[in-house]
Amino acid sequence: MSDTKKAPKIIIAIDGFSSCGKSTFAKAIAARLGYIFIDTGAMYRAVTLYALDHGAIRSGIVDEEAVVRLLGEISITFRFNPERGASDIYVNGDLAEGRIRTIEVSNCVSRVSAIPEVRSKLVAMQQEMGRRRGVVMDGRDIGTVVFPDAELKIFMTADPAVRARRRYDELRARGDEVSLEEIERNVRERDRADMSRAVSPLRQAEDAIVLDNSHMSVGEQMEWFLREYERVLAAR
Ligand code: DC
Repeated sequence: MSDTKKAPKIIIAIDGFSSCGKSTFAKAIAARLGYIFIDTGAMYRAVTLYALDHGAIRSGIVDEEAVVRLLGEISITFRFNPERGASDIYVNGDLAEGRIRTIEVSNCVSRVSAIPEVRSKLVAMQQEMGRRRGVVMDGRDIGTVVFPDAELKIFMTADPAVRARRRYDELRARGDEVSLEEIERNVRERDRADMSRAVSPLRQAEDAIVLDNSHMSVGEQMEWFLREYERVLAAR
């Protein structure tokens, strides 16, 4: 493999369905290349958590105007956590990493992320974070809206049942009482919501390459990635 320290820094955009292992994949790539990894889903989750904590979402009903009113007071920052080998997300200085992954946040985040004002604020932050390149960013609209000029765009997908199982195992491992049926419903519902929303719906960029990892190990995905990465560098 070419010396990644000397190689020109590029932007790697990873989009795709929820629970495809995008973050795990993106994190591994970033560590391998010495790039910064940015989980943009965590940013939409952080806004959702803040909205839940501040009464803009009650009994699962999202008050969009109230969310927009709160936006000005939300400050999102990332701080590298060497134990996780990734950055933790902070909302107004408070660590939010654990709390943004609950099923309560997952159930409301699609609606919050469909609010145009939420998207424009977070997209601007993401563009600023990638200004100097050398980032691996994962999300839904990175290759289409945030960085349409990204040098390498990957669209990840996997069978919904496989994805639900993965998320279920993850949540159970941390002690959450959830059922597989509930998770599978949430995965399918978020696919539908992410693809059908009016602003920046999830879609594959024309120049993205597809990675279906339903039956691939993490190691196989890395081998696949390194081949694509070398191909992009060779073509420059
Ligand atoms: O990747 P995730 O499941 O943690 O993302 C949470 C939600 O945020 C997901 O339902 C869609 C939304 N999202 C988005 O609209 N745009 C992004 N760039 C990233 C996530």
